[in-house]
Amino acid sequence: IPDDEDIQREDNIRCLTMLGHFGFECLPHQLVNRSIQQGFSFNVLCVGETGIGKSTLIDTLFNTNLKDKKSSHFYSNIELKIQTYELQESNVQLKLTVVKTVGYGDQINKEASFQPIADYIDAQFEAYLQEELKIKRSFVDYHDSRIHVCLYFISPTGHSLKSLDLLTMKNIDSKVNIIPLIAKADAISKNDLQKFKCKIMSELVTHGIQIYQFPTDDETTTQVNSSMNGQLPFAVVGSMDEVKVGKRMVRGRQYPWGVLQVENESHCDFVKLRDMLLCTNMEDLKEQTHTQHYERYRCCKLHKIGFTDVGPDNQPVSFQEIYEAKRQEFYDQCQREEEELKQKFMQQVKDKEMTLKEAEKELQDKFEHLKRVQQEERIKIEEEKRQLEEEIINFYKMKAGSETLQTQGSTNIKKD
Ligand code: GTP
Repeated sequence: IPDDEDIQREDNIRCLTMLGHFGFECLPHQLVNRSIQQGFSFNVLCVGETGIGKSTLIDTLFNTNLKDKKSSHFYSNIELKIQTYELQESNVQLKLTVVKTVGYGDQINKEASFQPIADYIDAQFEAYLQEELKIKRSFVDYHDSRIHVCLYFISPTGHSLKSLDLLTMKNIDSKVNIIPLIAKADAISKNDLQKFKCKIMSELVTHGIQIYQFPTDDETTTQVNSSMNGQLPFAVVGSMDEVKVGKRMVRGRQYPWGVLQVENESHCDFVKLRDMLLCTNMEDLKEQTHTQHYERYRCCKLHKIGFTDVGPDNQPVSFQEIYEAKRQEFYDQCQREEEELKQKFMQQVKDKEMTLKEAEKELQDKFEHLKRVQQEERIKIEEEKRQLEEEIINFYKMKAGSETLQTQGSTNIKKD
């Protein structure tokens, strides 16, 4: 390695000219091989009204058989149906999870329709965060269920977005990469479609709704991605039917007036969606999910439970310091609660004592009163007894007097 040709960079790192083969140019191959061995996973959320063509589109995209039976229009709440598939294309394995709304748009009050969807997205972030916070983490066999893309199905009214669409997208745009799609686009004429696309995009801008932008910072995809950004929302048509066109069998929808070929770019945007989603930007969708949406969730959650990177003095705070502070806070709170409980208990004891004392005094007063009444009663009885005895004495006296008088009287009669 010749020293004289070294370039000293500003950040003090020397760039050396290599003379010979070292082997680290094979590093990308190592990564590719490892990724192929591990396989890939991709999680898609389909949000759209009942019967708008969600399952058919996913089936057309991945050649799966998602649909089992038609959903009813009478669900009182929105539910989410989750299905996971193992797909293989040449030697690449893809674990695809499709989460589909059931009953979306069928309730009379649609104000909280976004809630189960937002809750589901958050729950997947929470599960990942919990795994991250474990001491013994096992990301190798962890099934990462975070949603990488939300395909939002817009009704082909040719008119404008519904308030349900705006409300839902507004409430989930900071949690997930949204790609808006005009579903069943065969229902709109070419002219109307262009106007409808413009109208949708201007409504999204007016309401400050962020949709996923295909990245333009990688020069290999800048051109295609920026052109595709200008064609959103994609107008898609789904079908699993094989229809004969000339001598070929193509996937399409047969109408009395002809065939709509799903994979014909002049008929609809299905191929554009498939290329953008699977071929060009799947990795970016996953990266955005991790670095933007999950990071936002994680940051909010950790803030909520009291973690911070800088203290009140704007100085960095270490995990240890936060842990100590939290421990102290918890200890102080326990002490406070214990003190409060003690005070409460003492007060209760005091109150009880007071009540008992009052009851005792009341009893004492009652006893004194009864004693007094009994005393008075006794005096009264004794007085009555005395009077009675006096009366008896007087009676005997009177009796004796009358007997004497009687004896004298009879003596006088005899003498006469
Ligand atoms: P639920 O799961 O019941 O909410 O329905 P979904 O949104 O999954 O719709 P699904 O794919 O079951 O399609 C409902 C009906 O619409 C079926 O009869 C499909 O054949 C039809 N359909 C699906 N995609 C299209 C399309 O692009 N254009 C037209 N015209 N019909 C479509």
